[in-house]
Amino acid sequence: MVVAIDGPSGVGKSTVARAVAAALGIPHLDTGAYYRLATLVSFEAGVDPGDEAGILRALDGIRVDFGGDGRMLLGGEDVADRIRGPEVTAAVSQVSAHAAVRRAIVAMQRAWVSDHGGDAVVEGRDIGTVVFPEAPVKVYLTASVAVRADRRAGDPEAAGLTRDELIAQMTRRDHLDSSRANSPLRPAADAVVVDTSHLTAAAVVRQVLDLVGRV
Ligand code: DC
Repeated sequence: MVVAIDGPSGVGKSTVARAVAAALGIPHLDTGAYYRLATLVSFEAGVDPGDEAGILRALDGIRVDFGGDGRMLLGGEDVADRIRGPEVTAAVSQVSAHAAVRRAIVAMQRAWVSDHGGDAVVEGRDIGTVVFPEAPVKVYLTASVAVRADRRAGDPEAAGLTRDELIAQMTRRDHLDSSRANSPLRPAADAVVVDTSHLTAAAVVRQVLDLVGRV
């Protein structure tokens, strides 16, 4: 079974998805890591984030494996920290807006889940709407941008930014992610929307496990 967890950055998707996966004893897939990886390999190949064909060429032939626990391996090298750095974070929304890039990455994500036996907690922006629209459990997490910025404050992608700069960057990324033509960030029609602004991670995890228990 796929448990789909979508929502904007800093809402707590990774924390919740990891805990739900551990409780269910199934793997966890962070789909944002793939868009970040595409951004990193494009930078390394000297490709502009607006150059769709160039990004596809940069992705072609790379060996990627999402190893769980947030680890992303590129040709065997752990690039988890590099994909969460400020340069990648600033450009990832532009890279992830290209339709052909999304098609290539969605295929990798579906293959990862099927290679891992078909059961997984999958977090992202378009899991319930596009990647696994048939998932029996779909959760869409929300929270105010101020709360999300505070949750992100200690993360590598917030390094060097003031709180106001972080809020401005997250607002910009939310806008780009929800207004793009291809697979915009939005709840699936049958998703359960949970406002996490005033909830602990443990309380959100309980709600998700409760939904899983009803399937
Ligand atoms: O979850 P994250 O912050 O690591 O995601 C990085 C970017 O990747 C995010 O700004 C939008 C994009 N993304 C996406 O378009 N679709 C997904 N399923 C996951 C992430």
